[in-house]
Amino acid sequence: MTNAKPVGCEEFFSYLETLFSVSENDMRAMIRDFHVEMKKGLRGDDGSLKMIPSFIDRPKGDEKGQFLALDLGGTNFRVLAVILDGKGRAVVPAAGKFAIPPEHMRGTGVALFDFIAGCIDRFLIENRIDRSRTHDLAFTFSFPVEQTAIAAGKLMVWTKGFTATGVKGRDVIVLLHDALKRKGIHCINITALANDAVGTLAAGSYRDPACDLGVILGTGTNACYREAVSRIEKLKTVNGTDHMIVNMEWGNFHKVRHTPYDNVLDKGSVNPGAMFLEKMVSGMYLGEITRLVLIDLMEKGLLFPGDRAVRASFREKDSFKTADMSLFEGDGTDDLGKIGAFLEGRGIFHAAFGDRFRLKHLCRIVSRRAARLGGAAICAVLTWGDPELQRTHTVAIDGSLFEKYPGFKGRMKRAFTELYREKAEKITLVHSKDGSGKGAAIIAAVAAGRK
Ligand code: BGC
Repeated sequence: MTNAKPVGCEEFFSYLETLFSVSENDMRAMIRDFHVEMKKGLRGDDGSLKMIPSFIDRPKGDEKGQFLALDLGGTNFRVLAVILDGKGRAVVPAAGKFAIPPEHMRGTGVALFDFIAGCIDRFLIENRIDRSRTHDLAFTFSFPVEQTAIAAGKLMVWTKGFTATGVKGRDVIVLLHDALKRKGIHCINITALANDAVGTLAAGSYRDPACDLGVILGTGTNACYREAVSRIEKLKTVNGTDHMIVNMEWGNFHKVRHTPYDNVLDKGSVNPGAMFLEKMVSGMYLGEITRLVLIDLMEKGLLFPGDRAVRASFREKDSFKTADMSLFEGDGTDDLGKIGAFLEGRGIFHAAFGDRFRLKHLCRIVSRRAARLGGAAICAVLTWGDPELQRTHTVAIDGSLFEKYPGFKGRMKRAFTELYREKAEKITLVHSKDGSGKGAAIIAAVAAGRK
């Protein structure tokens, strides 16, 4: 897989360290490239960042009301009831979570939207929601959408392993509306369409007015920020707002150095040639990159030498998950017993300590690159609006990678310090739990206020 011809394990690991390294200079170059791509995206020129206007500004914190919210964008689909108290608090009295069967992710769009309508029906029944009155609903649809109004937008392209047919190029609100009708649900009024990053920023700034960036570090990755409408050159007409949130779709940023492992992963994905940053940073892919390196190490006889059972248990695509990496890196026991227990679960008994240690090291190499790329991307957006980092910034982040991966946040913060020394303290990262779900409701409330 690789061109280098290392002889021993130590040498190969130092080769991997270099291959996956993101130096301070790399981060500075990435920030400059990000700014170039942002500019192109805002102008409407071809580039890797779509910079999609959301037609909505940040909330003020005084929005009130009761909403239903849908959240589609990863392996689970969620339905939430959200109450906004008008004082910066969003409460979720009822929530339902449904695993999306792979045959619906990759089947027909009609089947996918019928499944969604079915989940909503169950949610309404289980939570005894009154169907004799109308409920406003906000839809968080976390894929690149060409938004044309607050409650209208066409899917540009699927990401994160979805391929359902007949959705690309269609207005997803219409598809949802039709599926609700087919299911006989007439008590829902769809009032807003939002991306999860936009929802996260809305939820973050509902609570804290200093919040100016929303980021997702989960199955996929993305960010949005508040932009002056005068800088969104591609916008032809705008009514009544001088700022709006821009969904960057930063997962598609492509000026990043790829390793041979990244190229193999990309070729085997459902969207080759796209979403390079996402494929190096997000939870859907980190486990698979690690598995590809693992296979290479085994083929070179540098890990589990001679153990065929091991190879077999990692042979299948996606058979090693980012959650497994989390477990490995979180194993603080002296004998790396948690890693040992995991391997036993895969039929690999008595794995040598050295092998367990190297597995953990490998996870660190892959996840550290992800954290540093993610950190540099955050700095790029912050310095776009505040080049000298003169103000303080709160970044609201949602997603399991940020929430659960040991050390991920710390590594991002170290990247900030390398880049901006003591000024790095002006950047605060907050976990915005459920930001994407609550945020959609907040956006619906902002939209309702504007009407
Ligand atoms: C999608 C974005 C989304 C991100 C995080 C990406 O694959 O293109 O729209 O915000 O995942 O869920």
